[in-house]
Amino acid sequence: MQPELIIAIDGPSGAGKSTLSKLLARELGYVNIDTGAMYRSVALAAKRRGIDPIDEKALAGLVRSVRIQFLRASEGERVLLDGEDVSGVIRTPEVSLLTSRVSACAGVRRAMVDLQRELGTRGGVVLEGRDIGTVVFPRADVKFFLSASATERGRRRYEELRAKGLMVELEQTIADVEARDAADSARECAPLVQAEDALVIDSTALSIEEVLQAMLREVRRKKESSHPESAA
Ligand code: DC
Repeated sequence: MQPELIIAIDGPSGAGKSTLSKLLARELGYVNIDTGAMYRSVALAAKRRGIDPIDEKALAGLVRSVRIQFLRASEGERVLLDGEDVSGVIRTPEVSLLTSRVSACAGVRRAMVDLQRELGTRGGVVLEGRDIGTVVFPRADVKFFLSASATERGRRRYEELRAKGLMVELEQTIADVEARDAADSARECAPLVQAEDALVIDSTALSIEEVLQAMLREVRRKKESSHPESAA
């Protein structure tokens, strides 16, 4: 039997990683691991326990004491923090902001990377994040770097927020995306960088289906080149 692959999807926010990694995992019958949700859960736990996001020592202690799990439910994948379904509450703007600070803590990253390796090591997984192909699984079987222009990512975010009834401005939303890009790329600990051997897909002018098909072609190509005799 062919071994199952480890697939890494990295890229900036708003490039379509979450949507595509879920679809790709479903198509392949793989488990989808949203590593951003893991960092968000730690940020929520820190907020609830009143831990200052710059207190590295307290954060490092906290991260070893919480339990983060993924559960596949009929309504989609759920994230559990110490057994509680936190899938909704980790997406608030307040937690998003806190997450970008908490995820810069080296102790938090070490613990999350260990957990991500444990979850993914047997293969049959699609991991989505910022440092999967560079730090977590530098020897992943397939690596994608999904990008899109800041204007397009800002526009998508704007539509998403407007659909939720939030009165945001397009120009401001694009400026926010640009500011977050700059912070993510400039941070000292695990900045967003593209793995040299990643296939870069620019989704600016592509539909979700077009990106998914490009990804599936690459996965098939990798499977065929490693096991030519069993390729379908
Ligand atoms: O992908 P997302 O928006 O859910 O990520 C939330 C935050 O976590 C964002 O600030 C980037 C950070 N993150 C990270 O530092 N490393 C990862 N592997 C995934 C997310």
